[in-house]
Amino acid sequence: MAILDKIFTAEGSPNIALIKYWGKRDEKRILPQNSSISLTLSSSVLKTTTSVVLSKNLKHDIFYLDGVKQDLSGKDIQERFSVVDILRRKADSNEKALIVSNNDFPTASGMASSASGIATLVYVMDKALGLNLPEKELSIVARQGSGSACRSMFGGLVAWRKGTSPSGGDSYAEQIFDENYWPELIDNIVVVSQERKKVPSRAGMLQTVKTNPLYGSRPASAEKRFQKMINAYRRRDFDEVAGLMMADSNEMHALMMSTIPPIRYLNKSSYAIMDAVDELNHSEGRNIAGYTFDAGANSNVITLKKYKAKVLRALSPMLESKEILYIKTSMIGHGPKMLGESSSLIDLKRMRPF
Ligand code: DP6
Repeated sequence: MAILDKIFTAEGSPNIALIKYWGKRDEKRILPQNSSISLTLSSSVLKTTTSVVLSKNLKHDIFYLDGVKQDLSGKDIQERFSVVDILRRKADSNEKALIVSNNDFPTASGMASSASGIATLVYVMDKALGLNLPEKELSIVARQGSGSACRSMFGGLVAWRKGTSPSGGDSYAEQIFDENYWPELIDNIVVVSQERKKVPSRAGMLQTVKTNPLYGSRPASAEKRFQKMINAYRRRDFDEVAGLMMADSNEMHALMMSTIPPIRYLNKSSYAIMDAVDELNHSEGRNIAGYTFDAGANSNVITLKKYKAKVLRALSPMLESKEILYIKTSMIGHGPKMLGESSSLIDLKRMRPF
């Protein structure tokens, strides 16, 4: 049963895909062409905090993102917000919600803000509605808001299996190894641009599937790498994990580039990061770092703690020349969790953000 006029607050974090999702087989249900794998980042470094209150006094839903009241009539936001209605239907509730969500990192610049935002929203709404669904079910709901969001429902190394059922009931995320399996692993988030991306992932991947003559080989190639990635991670074989993640990122960006018209997210600084990582790996005689890029110019350079200083040294000329704006280092994180009342973002008396 929906719990009225009580504030629920949760935190969640983005995930970074090592094997990428770029293409759907069903646009409406958000079913992918291939399985993907990600690492959930630590919420102490990148975090979404979301508070929700359901109230009989509300005539319609209200949503504040990063302090700004959102217009809920737009197509994009409605598609993402559909997760709220899916959960309300499951709870047989028609109570309207005030939702306040803050990201402590730039929104829509290829840093997986929508994944983190939707996973956290689904997680906290489920509790406010008194549903308490298992995480697997929550990942199916989150997937329908944004595909990559389903992977932020768990910590550690997470797989989104593509599934085969037309209904999408077998297309969900699951944890493969928890966040403590490989504590040596770290992710350096290398920020070169804070701009919003020009082509949203959703439109970009549709364009790739529709127009790219090379796309046909992508699903099988990603699926093969998916299995190899799980095996390499199981062995904690960093050389192989890094090789696989760089190959998959490069394959996805090559597909973006050969889409008609081409989609280019990488910029000069992104290529300079690739060069620096390639040179470092070359001089070490094996991969001690691996880069990956989503739909944006910013990079995630993954390495082991013992190599962190070497990686930062390799990137330091770009930091000095301001080509890199900043680097944040994250451990591997846990899935979303509920927070206490003191973390609430909602002023209940005035029904608005503090
Ligand atoms: C490049 O999950 O944002 O980050 O399902 O249309 O909402 P929609 O797309 P989205 O796409 C993410 C694409 C990616 C790769 C990845 O995270 O796997």
